[in-house]
Amino acid sequence: MSRFFITTPIYYVNDVPHLGHAYTMVSADALARWHRLNGEEVFFLTGTDEHGLKIAQAAAENDMSPKEWTDRLSPRFQTAWKRLNISYDDFIRTTEPRHYETVQSFLTSVYENGYIYKDLYRGLYCVSCEAYYQESELAGGMCPIHNRPVTVMEEENYFFRLSAFTDRLLEWYERFPEAVRPSSKRNEALGFIRQGLQDISITRTSIDWGVPVPWDSEHVFYVWYDALINYLTAIDYGRDKARFERWWPNVHHVIGKDIIRFHCVWWPAMCMAAGIDPPANVFVHGWLLVGGEKMAKSAGNKVDPLELVDDFGLDAVRYYLLRDTNFGSDGDFTYEALTARYNADLANNLGNLLQRVTTVVANKLGGRAPRPVADSPLAGIASHALNRAQDSWNKFAPQDALEAVWLLIHETNARLEEVAPWKLEPGPELENVLGDALESLRLVCIAAFPVMPDAASAVWSRIGLDGSPKDQLAPASFHWGRYQSQKKIEKGEPLFPRRK
Ligand code: ME8
Ligand code: MG
Repeated sequence: MSRFFITTPIYYVNDVPHLGHAYTMVSADALARWHRLNGEEVFFLTGTDEHGLKIAQAAAENDMSPKEWTDRLSPRFQTAWKRLNISYDDFIRTTEPRHYETVQSFLTSVYENGYIYKDLYRGLYCVSCEAYYQESELAGGMCPIHNRPVTVMEEENYFFRLSAFTDRLLEWYERFPEAVRPSSKRNEALGFIRQGLQDISITRTSIDWGVPVPWDSEHVFYVWYDALINYLTAIDYGRDKARFERWWPNVHHVIGKDIIRFHCVWWPAMCMAAGIDPPANVFVHGWLLVGGEKMAKSAGNKVDPLELVDDFGLDAVRYYLLRDTNFGSDGDFTYEALTARYNADLANNLGNLLQRVTTVVANKLGGRAPRPVADSPLAGIASHALNRAQDSWNKFAPQDALEAVWLLIHETNARLEEVAPWKLEPGPELENVLGDALESLRLVCIAAFPVMPDAASAVWSRIGLDGSPKDQLAPASFHWGRYQSQKKIEKGEPLFPRRK
């Protein structure tokens, strides 16, 4: 059985999650669900990043210890992901003992391999990034990501010999051009590497909210050097060799473009330094913007994903997030666009198709569902759409996969309008057009399931099918002509009532 290990960033618990985090989660969830539909063994990992200055400061502002604060905030992420129907298999917190153990054993290997040394460090630090910057990297004296002032920090640190990896990283990306996708993001990573890499400070003595350095107890590891290792903790690096080798290095890291440098430069170099293969795949998406600005905890333009779900329904929000933005590009969030998508694609296209078909079957055939026609004109259209959806899912282009599925819905509606079964008397012509439309809906349920698991399951049972689209095996189940129902079909309430 083939395996699919997929991860998301682990989020800082300095505040509750917003729609930008939800975007990453829904993208990764859809991909995980697609691979499960393909019969693969999937391990889907997410979690929270709980150490570092930023978290310690948030805790202090709220008059709590970092431990109390993170114990309170981390569950907020778990609750949000449950409500968004994120099918993760493991949720890691960097404050867990299993993680301390892994960080210490991994970085001890790097140390013993000679890639960590001690020196004095003075630099410009962005607390929001939890990273040092060179003067030349600042934008008008401010952090280039957060547009906030940086602070001068001076301390005795352990350093990671990142400079030793410039050539090895370039060779690596030469050999595996698909390791970072899309290619525009690979070029960004290559840009960082070609500028030349400098050693980085990886420990702190100024704070103690972190994983202690095992060979020097005055230091804790700096947050990124702890956080990235979560991907190994969850698959038992250093504890269970067989399990580790089952999942590593064929991992799929899904991240936003703000953390390319960490995942595509630092992380593969750290893996090389510890003597393991770098991650095989990093999928980088763009930013969700509000009025042209990145949605961010620190920017005051956050949208609460749970409020949107209360308003529009879960699967409408999931659909909108993946349908409106090309994976890899930035996308602008607006209520108007969400409403327009909802009405056009869900209320009118999909909702209307379901409503028409079930109504006519109920009214004209007494609810007895007819079978599709083997050589239906829709068969070719369906096969084309599903092949395209499949290719798109495999390339991780959810927008394109959904567009393909909605073309099939559109064509099925067009055929209904042409034949107008609501005007026909019971007979073969009526039965054929309805059987074909039911078969289209069956296929749509499977192909849209990764994005809209509840809605697809609801349509599945409304058209009289047993079980769930979840249990279908793609692509075998994409074969035209399998629709068959023994149940009586009833016209029901609209699945996606139109919005004003
Ligand atoms: O960086 N649009 O955590 P973080 C799209 N703890 N995605 C967004 C977004 C936006 N406006 N805002 C946030 C950290 N994200 C580290 C990660 S991983 C070993 C450690 C998403 O809480 C996106 O996935 O700042 C981005 O990469 C991530 O949240 C950053 O979350
Ligand atoms: Mg951030």
